[in-house]
Amino acid sequence: MTDGKMLMTAAQRARENSYSPYSHFCVGAALLTKSGKIFTGCNVESAAFSPTSCAERTAIAKAVSEGERAFEAIAIVGGKAGEKGGFCPPCGVCRQMLAEFCAPSFKIYLGDENSFETYTLGMLLPLSFTRQNL
Ligand code: THU
Repeated sequence: MTDGKMLMTAAQRARENSYSPYSHFCVGAALLTKSGKIFTGCNVESAAFSPTSCAERTAIAKAVSEGERAFEAIAIVGGKAGEKGGFCPPCGVCRQMLAEFCAPSFKIYLGDENSFETYTLGMLLPLSFTRQNL
């Protein structure tokens, strides 16, 4: 199985745990480390709205808190509750957080396990502000 398909399947499964009682929009993500581990995440909402964690940032926080900082790729799948998940581009905050740890060549799979497209972080966040700018 390709990395993309395997990660998409893991993201779909993570999406099932989405806590999204306000938006009713369920997102799952699966982050592959360079060491070959997969960290999944889902969106976790708050009644106060702004503390909400996107699925991607949930996965990043899980991985970094377990000592992993080198990442190869992420799969993201999203869609309305009760519907099958599909193409869901990462929000700007998540793109910026990915840029904290990932190179422009980092792969981003969008779609579902049967049909997805491969992007890179460089494509989705060109001219990013990173530690090199400080
Ligand atoms: N969401 C994500 O989990 N990832 C994204 O990149 C886009 C948005 C979540 C946040 C919120 O819980 C819901 O989708 C609707 O915006």
